[in-house]
Amino acid sequence: MTPEEAQQLDESDPLAFARDRFSLPEGIIYLDGNSLGALPRAAPGKLVETAEAQWGEDLIASWNKHGWIDWSTRIAAKLAPIVGARPNELLIADSTSVCLFKLLAAAVRARPGRRTIVTQQRNFPTDLYVAQGLADMLGLRLRSVPAADVLSAIDEDTAVVTLTHVDYRSAAFYDMRALNAAAHAAGALTLWDLSHSAGAIEIDLDDTGCDLAVGCGYKYLNGGPGAPAFLFVAERLQDELRSPVQGWMGHADPFAFDDNYRPAAGITRFLTGTPSIMALAALEAGLDTFADVAMSDVEAKARALSQLFIDEVEARCGDELRLASPPDPSRRASHVCFAHPEGYAVMQALIARGVIGDFRAPDLMRFGFAPLYNRFVDIVRAAEILGEIVASREWDDPRFKARAKVT
Ligand SMILES: Cc1ncc(COP(=O)(O)O)c(C=O)c1O
Repeated sequence: MTPEEAQQLDESDPLAFARDRFSLPEGIIYLDGNSLGALPRAAPGKLVETAEAQWGEDLIASWNKHGWIDWSTRIAAKLAPIVGARPNELLIADSTSVCLFKLLAAAVRARPGRRTIVTQQRNFPTDLYVAQGLADMLGLRLRSVPAADVLSAIDEDTAVVTLTHVDYRSAAFYDMRALNAAAHAAGALTLWDLSHSAGAIEIDLDDTGCDLAVGCGYKYLNGGPGAPAFLFVAERLQDELRSPVQGWMGHADPFAFDDNYRPAAGITRFLTGTPSIMALAALEAGLDTFADVAMSDVEAKARALSQLFIDEVEARCGDELRLASPPDPSRRASHVCFAHPEGYAVMQALIARGVIGDFRAPDLMRFGFAPLYNRFVDIVRAAEILGEIVASREWDDPRFKARAKVT
């Protein structure tokens, strides 16, 4: 595709208006919004206002005066149209790993007598580690099977099936509706990690019958580095499920200072301690970047951007790179992986030329497409630069081979 043709696609892009909501450095093509979303233009002002006008001026009165005490649910409600849930089914809290632990433990407790947690081999590590820890602690069996075998692994001993919806390497995704139906038919619950789905593709947690879900706030949701996570508990399960980390913020009446725990009604029972207000302020700016955005447009653009990138890279790099994502766009979410034996060095050479993606061991170069701010012209240019680097072996330089702590 010529740059002019790409520009025409940008001009007819129904999401073109959203790019202005971000502050992006000049000369950089950022293809890592699936790891850390770009800075929303409104975030610094929101942080300053929260710090100076609220924390600074109103001090502790801000918990009531500015409603801080309800921000975990008020801001979570903004996620409802993005993930297809009711506002009262969502909560912002903790990190994804901690939310996973809480909901996994709650699910197991809600299925007494069942001793198995089913998950996928090569799931995201934190999902596996949390499940391993919980299984060790409670003497449960963790059954990790290849993705293709998950459905057949579910049986009458399964308490919960926990899966990452969109694979963090390949971007392949599960059929949520089919998995939920199979788990429910066996009497089990489902817990989805939406870290690579929320804000990238269309999902409908309620319509597809999901029970529980968690996800990162800092990827496609643009909540900032280390942003708090979100959790979802279907309304029909909220009274039945109990948080394993019973803190005062999840109590029915925290300011009664009662000696005994009584869970709050609804989703609030999954709160534990005092919410991080500054982090919530940044995450709110991130969620506001989705205002007036249709998720169907987001998904369509995610597919178009990733397919354009694949086509352009394959045309330029031929056999030097191997596509490690499903070739069928309807089976991928919003990122793409290419394998190269020296993938780390190639990615560092790309970053040195202003194209930012990331690397996942052992050999995957990962490129994320954030439909709110990535443009078609940038995709063509990024593929062109990658083609040049591969052809010239520019990556074959010791400075690109020293592994940093974060890849
Ligand atoms: C699928 C998935 N789950 C969880 C996480 C991270 O969890 P946490 O926010 O606890 O660091 C990531 C981070 O990349 C992820 O890709």
